[in-house]
Amino acid sequence: MPAGCWNSSHIFMPPVDPTKLVRAAMRARTRAHAPYSKFRVGAALFTRHGETIGGANVESASYGLTCCAERIALFKALTEGHKHFTAIAVVADWDEGPMPCGACRQLLAEYAPNATVLVADSRQSATIRSFSVKELLPSAFVL
Ligand code: THU
Repeated sequence: MPAGCWNSSHIFMPPVDPTKLVRAAMRARTRAHAPYSKFRVGAALFTRHGETIGGANVESASYGLTCCAERIALFKALTEGHKHFTAIAVVADWDEGPMPCGACRQLLAEYAPNATVLVADSRQSATIRSFSVKELLPSAFVL
């Protein structure tokens, strides 16, 4: 029996391996399109069924159209039918790792409220910082 747990709907929930999820985010980061900022970000979501969905930031010459790696991963996952996320990893070449922006925190609060947010510097990926979505966005806007 692999490590993990069963939830109240009798669904097996494999545990996230932070190192593996950070590696998936680093692979996703190789597909970033960041010609303007040159700041390449990768993200990887982990679902309660054990699937991993990656994303990377995509920039536009009309700067405001740029989309963050976390949101690309989330929109991809949601529109591919994934619903329940237990973790997201975010990586960039940034000391201690890049913290998700406010817009991404709002989307995470709505669509991945129970996810663990793992943040790592792509140059030093052995050090992984961990946050809850609630700690990153207390009292999130809801409708
Ligand atoms: N970026 C992300 O991908 N995630 C964040 O949480 C913050 C910023 C991207 C957007 C843009 O392409 C670049 O980083 C510089 O802001």
